[in-house]
Amino acid sequence: MNQNFTMNASLIAKSFQEKFNSTPTLQVKAPGRINLIGEHTDYNDGFVLPAAIDKAIYFSLRPREDDQIRLYAVDLNDEINLNLQNRKKSKKAWANFLIGVINELLERGAQITHGFDLAFGGDVPLGAGMSSSAAIESGMGFALNQMFQLGLSRLQLAKIAQLAEHNFAGVKCGIMDMYASLFGKSEHLIKLDCRYLSHEYLPFSFDEVSVVLFNTGVKHNLADSAYNKRREECERGVEILKQRNPDILSLRDATSDDVNAAKSEMTEDVYKRCFFVTSETRRMMEATDALNNQNLIRFGELMYETHDGLSQDYEVSCTELDFLVNLVRDKTGVFGARMMGGGFGGCTINLIDKSKAREIICDVTKAYKDQFGFEAEHFEVCITDGCTVVSG
Ligand code: GLA
Repeated sequence: MNQNFTMNASLIAKSFQEKFNSTPTLQVKAPGRINLIGEHTDYNDGFVLPAAIDKAIYFSLRPREDDQIRLYAVDLNDEINLNLQNRKKSKKAWANFLIGVINELLERGAQITHGFDLAFGGDVPLGAGMSSSAAIESGMGFALNQMFQLGLSRLQLAKIAQLAEHNFAGVKCGIMDMYASLFGKSEHLIKLDCRYLSHEYLPFSFDEVSVVLFNTGVKHNLADSAYNKRREECERGVEILKQRNPDILSLRDATSDDVNAAKSEMTEDVYKRCFFVTSETRRMMEATDALNNQNLIRFGELMYETHDGLSQDYEVSCTELDFLVNLVRDKTGVFGARMMGGGFGGCTINLIDKSKAREIICDVTKAYKDQFGFEAEHFEVCITDGCTVVSG
């Protein structure tokens, strides 16, 4: 078992013990995620290629006899108390990820018959595009499913986590992040079909490749950002395309040629968003073929194309992300790089030749500091299994 994993799980259990003066009866782990390619395609019924990683949120829980729920955020040293009947939105953003899941479960008749104490925390950096919020939501549902023997499938838990994000956090996200946290598989990418909510695993165990994330340190807040607006623009595009071809139910069904043909009927923004998504669908398919053929060079080229599309057409990048990608674009030893996740900050994902990784990380860190005056954190990540019970 990975050392970080055991250390983090036992730190959270220790904090639980100190806070609640009792021992947890259940410990679970919910990982963050990376996404190799297929960005902003999940809520357009398209395909994505994420994986769960060795950065995770850990939960310790113990059932109570009464209906009180006590939630403790170890990393923030903050807490909130509620009960099964009173589960309104909180002013504390972190608490809404948890309360949102409790609420969605109860609304759907889940037999959560009594309260519980919970402590959580971990090493998924917040607002860095590794889906800390989805890890919290997925882990919360997974833990309650386990503790109360609710009998829900991982897919049902992913949908509940997504609803919590929509209804309590206010971000109309797709399902990719929760799905990855719940369905992750060590050394595999998840090729997820977001229309049919089915997946296949693609092996990703290249001994010679490091997956490195550079964090811009620019915190994105998807709720406050233009994420929901992008989604609306895509929906507007579908309305226009549907008039020309009723078989187009979402952007997944359209090609870039369809979008070009309807360009004069769209605003410039709607056109650019639709053009990006339809191009990304094509890239995603090509990238899967490249991976199946072990062709990392082609895979990397497609990652750069995705970045350029996200930056110029989808307009969800920022100066810092563009800087990090441009820095490695022509470096020997880097197969590909791009901004990852919703955008407006967070991390870039880079596929780097392992023998060059140290040197490239040093160069990038230095250049970033020279440019912006502070260091870009980096993470060399491993692909892991999804939500698991640590003990209990
Ligand atoms: C965020 C959302 C996901 C997905 C990505 C962009 O991470 O939570 O559902 O839309 O952005 O691909």
